[in-house]
Amino acid sequence: MSLDLPRRPRRLRRTAGLRSLVAETHLDASQLVYPLFVCPGQGVRRPIGAMPGVHQLSVDEVVREATEAASDGVHAVLLFGLPASKDEHGSQASAPDGPVQQAVRALKRELPDTTVITDVCLCEYTSHGHCGVIVDGDVDNDATVPLLVKSALSHADAGADIVAPSDMMDGRVGAIREALDEAGHTSVVVMSYAVKYASAFYGPFREAADSTPAFGDRRSHQMDPRNAHEALHEAALDIDEGADIVMVKPALPYLDVIWRVKQEYGLPTAAYHVSGEYAMVKAAGAQGWIDEDRAMMESLTAIRRAGADIIITYWAREAARRLRRH
Ligand code: PBG
Repeated sequence: MSLDLPRRPRRLRRTAGLRSLVAETHLDASQLVYPLFVCPGQGVRRPIGAMPGVHQLSVDEVVREATEAASDGVHAVLLFGLPASKDEHGSQASAPDGPVQQAVRALKRELPDTTVITDVCLCEYTSHGHCGVIVDGDVDNDATVPLLVKSALSHADAGADIVAPSDMMDGRVGAIREALDEAGHTSVVVMSYAVKYASAFYGPFREAADSTPAFGDRRSHQMDPRNAHEALHEAALDIDEGADIVMVKPALPYLDVIWRVKQEYGLPTAAYHVSGEYAMVKAAGAQGWIDEDRAMMESLTAIRRAGADIIITYWAREAARRLRRH
């Protein structure tokens, strides 16, 4: 039936109240994860040039930052480690007294209700900055997996709630799940960076985590931005190997992929709004070229609309504060 009357979709946009009543997407602080970079020392709070507002923090400062985040309404953090020393095999990645392991223990002691997630990768720990062991000039998959397992176990032993392998080695989710179960960590969650693209948008992070590869790049293991079917295949493998949560990364350039992964598997799906995405808006905002606050809320809302249940973002605290004001 078609009425012979003008159609007026604007009717529902007239007031803030009407717009809220018909809003299809909801953003809440409970969906946000706040990434933190843990470094050695005490009282260290070192700003990262390309990521205004983000710092490398010593364990005591991590606890302080997470406490403030919790009071803003953000109750989940993702930890990255900057070890005191690096070597070819990234051995500090599984050191029981490494920065991440110490931070996990301190956070679980001081803030038991904050969910502590750890990034599991070797790139911050290897002298060459690659995500695994180098054999014949390339990252060797099968030599790397056992080291990732060891690192994940050390995080679980310290009390991590979720381990998040970000290396993109084949078979690492299954190996980590099996080792966790064998060690009695059956309730530690695995959030896999299932769909991680070889992206230019990680640039600022590599300054923050001191993990720029000394040679080459990560295209032999991270995904080709031209592929989306392959993303479903990657997610299927990780789910089959026991991933509880799957992640797509970066976020805004890959909204179609977030959508497909969520639609296809229906598993809790995370999206990582990465350093370069954040830095671009910060830079334009600082120039007065864009309204940072609005661009932030629009970006995060778009990621939710695409189907992400969880958003990992350096804006977590700012967004949570902004949501409170409403
Ligand atoms: C690897 C890792 C990276 C990021 C998260 N985990 C960098 C990379 O793959 O080079 C990037 C996150 C960001 O850019 O914010 N440990």
